[in-house]
Amino acid sequence: MSRLIVVSNRVADLTKSVQSGGLAVALADALREHRGIWFGWDGTVVSDAAPIGINLTQQHHVRTATVPLTQRDYDEYYVGFSNNVLWPSFHYRLDLGIIDAKSIDGYRRVNQRFAKALSALLEPDDVIWVHDYHLIPLAAELRALGMRQNIGFFLHIPFPPPDIFLAVPEPEWLARAMFSYDVIGFQTRTDTANFRRYMIEHNGATEIGAHQIAAFGRTTTVRDFPIGIDVDAFHEMAHTPKAVEQIERLNRRSMVSSQIVGVDRLDYSKGLPDRLRAFRLLLELYPENRKAVTLMQISPPTREDVAAYSEIRKELEGLSGAINGEFGDFDWTPVRYIHRAVPRDTLAALFRGSQVGLVTPLRDGMNLVAKEYVAAQDADDPGVLVLSRFAGAAEDLEEAILVNPYDNQEVAQSLQRALTMRQGERRERHKALIARVRQHDVRNWRETFLEALRTAGRENESAV
Ligand code: G6P
Repeated sequence: MSRLIVVSNRVADLTKSVQSGGLAVALADALREHRGIWFGWDGTVVSDAAPIGINLTQQHHVRTATVPLTQRDYDEYYVGFSNNVLWPSFHYRLDLGIIDAKSIDGYRRVNQRFAKALSALLEPDDVIWVHDYHLIPLAAELRALGMRQNIGFFLHIPFPPPDIFLAVPEPEWLARAMFSYDVIGFQTRTDTANFRRYMIEHNGATEIGAHQIAAFGRTTTVRDFPIGIDVDAFHEMAHTPKAVEQIERLNRRSMVSSQIVGVDRLDYSKGLPDRLRAFRLLLELYPENRKAVTLMQISPPTREDVAAYSEIRKELEGLSGAINGEFGDFDWTPVRYIHRAVPRDTLAALFRGSQVGLVTPLRDGMNLVAKEYVAAQDADDPGVLVLSRFAGAAEDLEEAILVNPYDNQEVAQSLQRALTMRQGERRERHKALIARVRQHDVRNWRETFLEALRTAGRENESAV
């Protein structure tokens, strides 16, 4: 059996089992099964002059190979091109992009360096699975070094429509680089359609069958692989004695009858200011919710070296303070805002103990919180998911209350509907949702992708 090599910008810290997400656990399982290696950045930043070596270790029976980034690499590759150009534009936010010629050079340079370091570890029949927007040119760099293994790419974030993609610097270079992969996976049908359209309209690509595209002298499998969660593991986490105790303690302490929960990195793509404005409108339009409902918003810090992120933090603090000042009382805090990471088992308990899960990104690749909220519920008396139409998860989770996250009034009305929904309807919706969450779970995602990757690439054997 061939080895599996996973490459991602960050390598998960598997020693923190409660904190590492289901995705990290699923990839680690596959790596254990296939004697694999997980390669990527170790999260540290060293001085530009420091020597850079690969650190080979073993974490929970998974071999990892990690490298640091120099300060210049961090500024140009991570903050610069990845998070000031690709992240905003792929989330349809060209207004937040900062285009700077140096950063694209840094992005190329780090991808070249990663390819060189990785190539020294590869065996001829390895299968390589590259993750996310930081590493789009990695396969092209590996091919330039003579690597002929099957290499797949999965984009965790959205792929924008052609007109937006064209505003990214050197779009054709990026697209050509993508065709060095044997499989290109997207989260949704919409992302796949956007990419196909760009390739056909701007690069003369041709479609071969349902899932293949020929362009730049290569044929590549291009399709959606919607990512999921480990449903049973998350459900169990929400039902441990510790979780039950946490929920009871929360209920005893809080005077309110209903809790709305939101959990998102503090990222501008998550629609947090609009979410708070919608909650405020809920209190204005339906005053019976005053002293009866709390919004628990957990937003751990993220990418604080990127300017757009400090802005959003200030905005959110201002909004939650204003709502609490205006509506709060001695015995009721309308918005409980927590700006730090919370262990996953606590989140699971919180999801189970909350009557509404509020997931309203302005744009999101998939959004696993939506799926986790569904998995944590009790089938007999489940909570209601209010979900943005612009989260990838909405393509599957049709039985959620789907909302336009920009429309505060619609979100407020939907919250009211969720808070007053009768048990019968809640059960029916949950039954349909959990079936969909199970159908596209993390194992299905991983195995479908790996199957496509193992069987792909044969048509290109002479074209590398
Ligand atoms: C998103 C991206 C991931 C990234 C994560 C955390 O989920 O798709 O690739 O690892 O955010 O962001 P960070 O910049 O801290 O790695």
